[in-house]
Amino acid sequence: MSKVRIAVFVSGGGTNLGALIKAQNRGILTSGEIALVLSNKRSAYALTRAKNAGIPTEVIIRAEEGGQEGFENKIKSLLDQYKIDIIVLAGFMTILSEQFTSAYPERIINVHPSLIPAFCGKGYYGLKVHEEALARGVKVTGATVHFVNEIPDGGKIIMQKAVAVKEGDTAEILQQRVMRLAEWVILPRAVQEVCKNIKGE
Ligand code: GAR
Repeated sequence: MSKVRIAVFVSGGGTNLGALIKAQNRGILTSGEIALVLSNKRSAYALTRAKNAGIPTEVIIRAEEGGQEGFENKIKSLLDQYKIDIIVLAGFMTILSEQFTSAYPERIINVHPSLIPAFCGKGYYGLKVHEEALARGVKVTGATVHFVNEIPDGGKIIMQKAVAVKEGDTAEILQQRVMRLAEWVILPRAVQEVCKNIKGE
């Protein structure tokens, strides 16, 4: 039976992409296959990870496409070209317009490094999320995998995992713990679950 074709959108290091590739190799992600890695930054190390795994890559730069509309139109044509069924945002550090997200209802998945609805929405991304969690003094944080809709970090929650904040944590230390214990664990599982549902298994 054919697999659900996944496009992973990245901007940076791509450790979450790495977790998805590993899950594919280890038979955890079985109902879907990563068919494309798309970056909005040429320097993203995630592109090297994809190439090492033999996955096709594409780079689309907003400024080179004359703005958001051109950027998203180019993305859409690539998604058609690669016959993509679902999109996974794995550290994709740019917001997609409502026009784009509404074209793929429950077909775009995002991983966010907090327990939504805490520390999320516009302006909360990457290290900033952990800095805010430490500043607020929370004792528990974590990660969330959710569907993407027109509200930043506002779509239906698929999976969450809690992670303890420890005495003396820096934002960097906390970020690493949240990635290792939560993001890299629940993202592959959530993607597998969504792919399985799409196939009706
Ligand atoms: C991850 O922590 C991811 O949750 C976060 O950026 C990091 C990307 O790391 N995403 C967001 O903050 C989105 N709002 P990676 O490139 O190593 O996967």
